[in-house]
Amino acid sequence: MQTNILSICYLIGSVSFIIGLKMLSNPATARRGNFISAAGMGIAILGTLLLYQPSGTEFHNYGWIVGAMVIGTIIGSISARKVKMTAMPELVSIFNGMGGLCAALISIVEFGRIGTNHEDMHVLSILAGMIIGSVSFAGSMIAYGKLSGKIKDHAFPGQHIFNLVVLLVVLLMSAFIIFGDSTSFALIFYGILGLSLCYGILFVLPIGGADMPVVISLLNSFTGIATACAGFLYNNPVMLTGGILVGSAGAILTILMCKAMNRSLQNVLIGSFGGAKASAGPATGEEGTYKEISLSDAAMVMGYAHKVIIVPGYGLAVAQAQHACHELEKSLRKNGVEVKYAIHPVAGRMPGHMNVLLAEADVSYDDLLELEPANEEFGSTDVVLILGANDVVNPAAENDPSSPIYGMPVLQVWKAKSVIINKRSMRPGYAGIENGLFFLPNSSMLFGDAKDVLQQLINQIKEI
Ligand code: TAP
Repeated sequence: MQTNILSICYLIGSVSFIIGLKMLSNPATARRGNFISAAGMGIAILGTLLLYQPSGTEFHNYGWIVGAMVIGTIIGSISARKVKMTAMPELVSIFNGMGGLCAALISIVEFGRIGTNHEDMHVLSILAGMIIGSVSFAGSMIAYGKLSGKIKDHAFPGQHIFNLVVLLVVLLMSAFIIFGDSTSFALIFYGILGLSLCYGILFVLPIGGADMPVVISLLNSFTGIATACAGFLYNNPVMLTGGILVGSAGAILTILMCKAMNRSLQNVLIGSFGGAKASAGPATGEEGTYKEISLSDAAMVMGYAHKVIIVPGYGLAVAQAQHACHELEKSLRKNGVEVKYAIHPVAGRMPGHMNVLLAEADVSYDDLLELEPANEEFGSTDVVLILGANDVVNPAAENDPSSPIYGMPVLQVWKAKSVIINKRSMRPGYAGIENGLFFLPNSSMLFGDAKDVLQQLINQIKEI
């Protein structure tokens, strides 16, 4: 009876993951989806604590389990509440690393339990969980260090070959454990653990800091696979389903991010785009001259327009200007202006960055346009206001085959009658390249921090 109820708990857990994941794909339902998945996980955990009956032994260690859960819940909720939107990828990286570490620890504990008559599949699951989990843990910690500016990009000549050799040695040592007939493999096992941790570090170290969101998504997929291995080990359906869902969702997200940047995964992993080279200061050789617009002129142009589209980018997140942006939208609406937002899929530094940021400021989802509908509307728009976006509005992606972003879908803001670009200087964005948009006849630059500029614009528009 108890086992049947536990199976139902696991079924509820698995189904709620699937429903929650589906709901996460829409900003309007994402919050509820997250809650449903968390509740499902809660039921699965509670069911395990109360109903799981390991054969022949008593379920014990309640003190440790509940203690760890309480400490983890406190640390997790405080850090998730306190984190700034721009530091979200760092937090995701740490959380993901912890998942990988858990999977690796499960494998280490289970390795200590295998007897002489072990099944090959059992050992394979232990090794796979340990290797993938520790690569994910070590890699995520390096990714965290890079995102927070504590660790710089490091590479040495032939590093990719060296990494491949380390990986090959790990695989050969694993094969030795699985197919070998010795009874004591502890030394080799811990050797594999050490090498896997080194591989995680070496794999992430040379990748450009700005490419970390893609790497984190990939490592997230690794953590999912490692968890699925643990689920297989314990014959636990909810761990298996959860692991497979995280593994596949992470892999799909990695592919989508690469596609939206028009880059291959190989280029992200062994290329230098977005790395030290890209963030190295101003671009050389500005294309012609740009014109500036004053705050009062910008306020006039927008205040008397019929339709304004706001394009938020990474700079908006840096300036924490989402609330000021919503205020500007409301002031413009009071003047009878139609206002919408155009959201590029990779604007910012992580998937959905702009959607979450604007949702935090109570901007209505109905006013957000995705790339394609936005591109259809720019032609009938009087003013496009770009707030801290650069690469996602760069026409070189469409007209310069030599550009590193050529082929990346971009917002065709230049189709509008007038384009106002707010940023602090003429420095390039993430890709480290010049943006021809700034020099077009219908473009004008409005320099300054996005939040300050928006606040001044709001004041000026109120006076119109
Ligand atoms: P970027 O191209 O990085 O441009 C951001 C601009 O914001 C910069 O040019 C910067 O210029 C300006 N800025 C910075 N701080 C500001 C502030 N306080 N006030 C006003 N402006 C400020 O951003 P984007 O257009 O959003 O493009 C995102 C890039 O990140 C893409 O290349 C994309 O491929 C990449 N990427 C995105 C993701 C995801 S999933 N979102 C993942 C990995 C990589 P100044 O310094 O002159 O102010």
